Amino acid sequence: MAQATSQNIGEAYYQLSPEILESFPKFRPPVDLYVFDDNIAVMSIFSKKGSRLTNEQVQKAAELCSKGDLFVCRSDQHIYIHHMVKQLDLILQDENLTEAECSEICLRALVMRYTEYHEQPVPELLDKLYRDVMVFTEYLWQDQYRINTFFRRLFRKQTPAKHAINTMVTGLWLRRQIPPEQTRKDFDRTAAALILHDIGMCKVPPFILSKKTALKPDEKEKILQHPITSVKLMRKSDLVFNELIKASFEHHERLDGSGYPQKLSGSQISPMGKLTAVADSFSAMICDRPYAKGKPPIEAAKELAEDPRYDTTLASLLKMGLVSEKIDNPIDADKLLEDDK
Ligand SMILES: [Fe+2]
Ligand SMILES: [Fe+2]
Repeated sequence: MAQATSQNIGEAYYQLSPEILESFPKFRPPVDLYVFDDNIAVMSIFSKKGSRLTNEQVQKAAELCSKGDLFVCRSDQHIYIHHMVKQLDLILQDENLTEAECSEICLRALVMRYTEYHEQPVPELLDKLYRDVMVFTEYLWQDQYRINTFFRRLFRKQTPAKHAINTMVTGLWLRRQIPPEQTRKDFDRTAAALILHDIGMCKVPPFILSKKTALKPDEKEKILQHPITSVKLMRKSDLVFNELIKASFEHHERLDGSGYPQKLSGSQISPMGKLTAVADSFSAMICDRPYAKGKPPIEAAKELAEDPRYDTTLASLLKMGLVSEKIDNPIDADKLLEDDK
């Protein structure tokens, strides 16, 4: 039993919404449930996690919850967060989560879904990933400043999922800085295109990606093929739209024609291709890779802004944004997600 005041309730407990209660296994909630007695300002335990509720208790919990009197202790936050990760759309219904908590849940969910699909590229897993990306865009669309929270939580360790998410966050942040303003549909498509830009890499054997020595010509060729593989894979999955094709196909093209696979140059490269190129290279540069240590974000953006192979406007905006947002030392998203609590 804990003494509770209206001030510390919010810090110590989450008020449980009926939607979240409904998402729990009906008879065995995975967290301790608390009930608040307004008259004596006391928070007391309603049921212990994992214990089986009777039919009466299930009904009582629903009643208390609908009145706003059912709570979850923040010390069970890790269980609560893991529950939400598997049903990401719940973050749109839970108004009691902080922005930091929502961002952690989103990042965990996206890393999990991307990794699942990357390891086993079957349509069911692509659907799950796509659905979570759409929850993410809905969450961002509700408040355009939320992208900044993610921009301050970039990953610094390279895995395919973390690279894809960093690229999406950087690209969306950057896209918001330039006209024309996006419609909701464009925003959704840009996010999906950015996160899936490298998906063809799932066909490159992992030993090639982690190799510290020089690649053999056939190994190099496998990597050079990934933009084409991405497009083929998405076509096979019936996920085809302009932004996705351009992001996948053109993110390694460079303004001076030195890129691949088509050796496009200048205006032959689409705006989406240019945006993805900057976001993709930035995301790669800030991460530790088998052959290079990750650079501080501002240094990486500065390098891109001075590199004529990249769109100068975009790269300069990225640099200025990092400086003005003071994102020299972002919150380490790897640490945030490190412990599989
Ligand atoms: Fe790539
Ligand atoms: Fe990439």
